[in-house]
Amino acid sequence: MNRIYFDNNATTQVAPEVRTAILPTLDENFGNPSSAHRIGERARQIVDLAREQVAELLSTQPARILFTSGGSESNNIAIFSAARAYPNRKHIISSVVEHPSVQAPLAFLANQGYEIELLPVDHQGNLDLDRLTTSIRPGETLMISLMGANNETGVIWPLATIGKICRKNKVLFHSDVVQMVGKEPLDPTQINADYLSIAGHKLHGPKGVGALYASRTAPVFPLVLGASQEHGKRAGTENTPGIAGLGAASALAAQHLTTYRQEVALLRDRLESKILTALPDALINGRDSDRLANTTNICFKHCSSAGLIQELDERGIAVSGHSACHSGDLNPSPVLSAMQVPETHLHGALRISLCRDNTRAEVEHFLELLPEIVAKSRRNFAA
Ligand SMILES: Cc1ncc(COP(=O)(O)O)c(C=O)c1O
Repeated sequence: MNRIYFDNNATTQVAPEVRTAILPTLDENFGNPSSAHRIGERARQIVDLAREQVAELLSTQPARILFTSGGSESNNIAIFSAARAYPNRKHIISSVVEHPSVQAPLAFLANQGYEIELLPVDHQGNLDLDRLTTSIRPGETLMISLMGANNETGVIWPLATIGKICRKNKVLFHSDVVQMVGKEPLDPTQINADYLSIAGHKLHGPKGVGALYASRTAPVFPLVLGASQEHGKRAGTENTPGIAGLGAASALAAQHLTTYRQEVALLRDRLESKILTALPDALINGRDSDRLANTTNICFKHCSSAGLIQELDERGIAVSGHSACHSGDLNPSPVLSAMQVPETHLHGALRISLCRDNTRAEVEHFLELLPEIVAKSRRNFAA
């Protein structure tokens, strides 16, 4: 069997349709979108089309979409723009399980005198919404930054309810929806979002490109200063190959959105129920929560993540322990620690994240191999 890729929350393979959209920008459509001649005009049209495609996926207007270098930059722009616009509001609410690209700008602001309140999660990875409401300080709280779906567990948070709380209390609402977009329907108006961050490479687009949705009233200040690209919100000649790819990936995701959940969840649910039958002491993290259809995060008792990943890799199967940005890290996942996964299981976590191209045959092959690999990891763990 060919290599099996079950690490789609780390990154996804570029779809053939996306590749087809990118290639002309490397050949005949190589122009600079700011140039006045026809070659430049063609490049400008490519950027415009991509902006429409991203806007359509997010049920918004193209003018609300700012192209960036990815999810990390989008998160940084949202947080620093809000801080710059309202310098007297020095309290920000977020959570302990956010991606480092939210945590790090918040830590930077903490060093500048901001008070950053990180909400805990329960055993199932959920937030206490009453606590969120009572944490808001009228006139002081600048922003609530809470992710749409967790990259490790796939646990989805109720963005519409959070957005309502933000609106009622006149607090800006940013959500990192990098893992959610293309997997769940998203409409920033319905959830009262001021900012949404997305990344191309999580939805079969290229790496190094993303977008920030900013509502009509949300302040946006550039992090990169220079010429007036992106209406002066982000300087630098546009990454036309990346942008064309993100546009095509968004159009493709919109096309698959209605069937995605059902099709991918079928594979994921089979995977989980068969694993639990074969290995009843395995723990599925966030199983009772609303979750992304493609993600399962499982802890195996008295096992080591690194050992499991290596054994699976040797047999042609790519999975991860926790997020890709921490994968060289032997410490247990901070997300699973925050969910208080018991010490007996904490070190044996696997994140299996599927995509719409994975097959039942791949899942069956994985299931055949897993019990022996877990048994081996357990023997090594005990030794
Ligand atoms: C939830 C989340 N936010 C942000 C990012 C960062 O996106 P990028 O790699 O495009 O900067 C990731 C990527 O792993 C992610 O999973």
